[in-house]
Amino acid sequence: MGQISVKNRMRILPAGPLKGELTLPGDKSITHRAIILGSLADGVTEIGGALRGDDCRRTAVALGAMGAAIEEQGDDRLLIRGCSLHGLTEPGDILDAGNSGTTMRLLAGVLAAQPFFSVLTGDQYLRKRPMARVAAPLRSMGATILGREGGNFPPLGILGSRLRAIDYVSPIASAQVKSAILLAGLFAEGETTVTEPSLSRDHTERMFEAVGIPIRRNGLTVRTRRVTTIPAFRLTVPGDFSAAAFFLVAALLIPGSELTLRGVGMNPTRTGLLDALASMGAAIEAGRSRVISGEPVADLFVRSQELHGTEVGGALIPRMIDEIPAFAVAAAVAKGPTIIRDAAELRVKEVDRLAALAKELRRFGAEVEERPDGLLLHGSCLLSGCECDSWGDHRIAMALAVAGLAATGSTSISDPLCVSSSFPDFWERVEAIRHGAVDSLEG
Ligand code: S3P
Repeated sequence: MGQISVKNRMRILPAGPLKGELTLPGDKSITHRAIILGSLADGVTEIGGALRGDDCRRTAVALGAMGAAIEEQGDDRLLIRGCSLHGLTEPGDILDAGNSGTTMRLLAGVLAAQPFFSVLTGDQYLRKRPMARVAAPLRSMGATILGREGGNFPPLGILGSRLRAIDYVSPIASAQVKSAILLAGLFAEGETTVTEPSLSRDHTERMFEAVGIPIRRNGLTVRTRRVTTIPAFRLTVPGDFSAAAFFLVAALLIPGSELTLRGVGMNPTRTGLLDALASMGAAIEAGRSRVISGEPVADLFVRSQELHGTEVGGALIPRMIDEIPAFAVAAAVAKGPTIIRDAAELRVKEVDRLAALAKELRRFGAEVEERPDGLLLHGSCLLSGCECDSWGDHRIAMALAVAGLAATGSTSISDPLCVSSSFPDFWERVEAIRHGAVDSLEG
């Protein structure tokens, strides 16, 4: 939630069976990318199913400050009059990415190539997140990027320039890093390549393909090159798998639940949680599989099931990186221990999510050991309601809400409005799916 400290708390009561159907808000990652490419396109781009969350709004406002005209229509449509690839103008003020790492890192890639000066800042959480991972490769393409502590922390001052292509071998599987470089590559002389250690989400690559931007993929390497224009496009954003994750886990844990989630994005670089849950014994059915704007989509059907402990690590982690908070709740309840390894990246998300999950799940009675790169959850916990802290992190707040719904007794969660980064009506959806489970915002 931006810089505002919200004192309110959300009270959650144990839920009876979750029944019915749910559609999810639009995918956050895809919405950011559509706003960026639409702003750089020639003509009017139409985006359906867009997420109206705080994070994507930050991207839109920043591009608006540089000349794009972005209009919200109805619940989830965006009309973007793009500036064309070389039409952005110097912003008159700093650009505030709020809580959104994707806004800051992807826009850094675009700004590195602009013939002007810009400053990107963010809220108290984002200003503590590392930016060297994008600043270093963008500098080697020719941009000047300054920041606090040797250029690693926001605010970032960016003086763009004529870029040259690089072949970048990324030490981390990060879609934000990959995407920043690919976006800069659209302006750079030569062919830009990015190689990652394992595959991170590939929405940028798919959207480049869908709108006709040259992109080639070979295993873990992706290539693009300079283009002169991007034609305006029409795109429909699928439901956010990361938003679905909370309801999948809640339905698995709450006896008697039967839930259908409609129109969920099923990009395989995002659905690692389904593999992890399957390894715990969960059977989640996918039906009506289709492809929308280059992204696979399906309806998911989930019913409550007994889960057992498992181990997750390696290449599975980037495929479920944002779902680990929800997964940890499932692991706390599952019979027997679960080990999460190779997940040190969680320490540099909106907050240190390993520390947050260990501390908050213990309040519910779970036995959790924190490790440098993951968690050991002993499992078999009968969650008991508690007063807990969202740490101002949307996904921690929603994971704790799932724990609260599955717990005995009442739970109260601090700063619940932080969910607006990615899922503004999360609390209303929870209430709708289990009427009476969410009580009130307590003053
Ligand atoms: C995102 C990539 C991931 C993810 C984040 C959104 C994106 O971050 O955790 O929520 O839209 O590209 P990293 O690229 O840092 O892994």
